[in-house]
Amino acid sequence: MPNPSLLILPGDGIGPEVMAEVRKIIDWFGAKRGLVFDVSEDLVGGAAYDAHGTPLHDDTMARAQEVDAVLLGAVGGPKYDTLDFSLKPERGLLRLRKEMDLFANLRPAQCFDSLADFSSLKREVVAGLDIMIVRELTSGVYFGEPRGIHTEGNERVGINTQRYTESDIARVARSAFELARRRGNKVCSMEKANVMESGILWREVVQEVHDREYPDVELSHMYADAGAMQLTRWPKQFDVIVTDNLFGDLLSDLAAMLTGSLGMLPSASLGAPMANGRPKAMYEPVHGSAPDIAGQGKANPIACILSFSMALRYSFDQGAEADRLDAAVQKVLSDGLRTADLMGPDGGVPVSTGAMGDAIVAALDASLA
Ligand code: IPM
Ligand code: MG
Repeated sequence: MPNPSLLILPGDGIGPEVMAEVRKIIDWFGAKRGLVFDVSEDLVGGAAYDAHGTPLHDDTMARAQEVDAVLLGAVGGPKYDTLDFSLKPERGLLRLRKEMDLFANLRPAQCFDSLADFSSLKREVVAGLDIMIVRELTSGVYFGEPRGIHTEGNERVGINTQRYTESDIARVARSAFELARRRGNKVCSMEKANVMESGILWREVVQEVHDREYPDVELSHMYADAGAMQLTRWPKQFDVIVTDNLFGDLLSDLAAMLTGSLGMLPSASLGAPMANGRPKAMYEPVHGSAPDIAGQGKANPIACILSFSMALRYSFDQGAEADRLDAAVQKVLSDGLRTADLMGPDGGVPVSTGAMGDAIVAALDASLA
């Protein structure tokens, strides 16, 4: 059996710095756990634009289709703000999601006990929080046609289209129900069935898939605006939330902030199984490229490191090793190590991006002792 393959796309801003720390973790698993990956690296986003005049080169796209998993850092930066829409760094990311057909985007929001005071909400509201947002990632208003800006009479009109087929909805619903069975066995589906036909269909199809295939899972439905309200009021009522592309974009940022720092949260984007049984997959931190702090050793590498942990779990069937990595992250946090984004109420020991990565490697070493 060849080694499993990883394509690393560090991207822009803090992407390369946080990915350098992930490389340390990957190397550790190779050296100490015999989990050797065949790693290649390429460009995406502004970095690809600078080199090739496109945010994603066709060769990179082809490579992403071949590997067992893609790890992406972040894309974007002010330098690219004036580029034509089709050349913007974000288009590279959206092309990867679409062409790899990564329809299920898993965004966990977990509140580490040692960080519960960082939330803008009260400790008792967020401590111990562990929810999973499953965001549909390849359809909806992000990709629907018609779209564009045209002129009608003497004014411009901007158009985007929310479009969902039954099969789009059914497959992401299945992902949510499958996950729920391995967690708290509860799914809440969010849409705007009171306003949108696509929301009516969403609700019907999620219910049908439930009744036919997952009657053992507890299912509820909520309008997405009420869902946002409930997420800030009492987030612990939720286990798995399944929702469309745009609502998922908003609700996952909201859920992320409940936990105190965007620098902590990983994500997995999964598609259909490949010939080897592994799902098509891309893993990336939820945070962006943070150009304002890039290159200063201030970035928190934890979101990207936990994204690799999700890769161990969802692509490589290494749940125990993913648990080991998650525990190493918890350990350094409870030891008080803090990157700049985490310097807050409890003081803590300020560390650079690189020192945080080293500390997690040391905690992994300690886990073997
Ligand atoms: C996200 C981001 C992206 C999105 C952007 C960068 C295109 O906000 O992954 O949540 O809107 O999906
Ligand atoms: Mg977003």
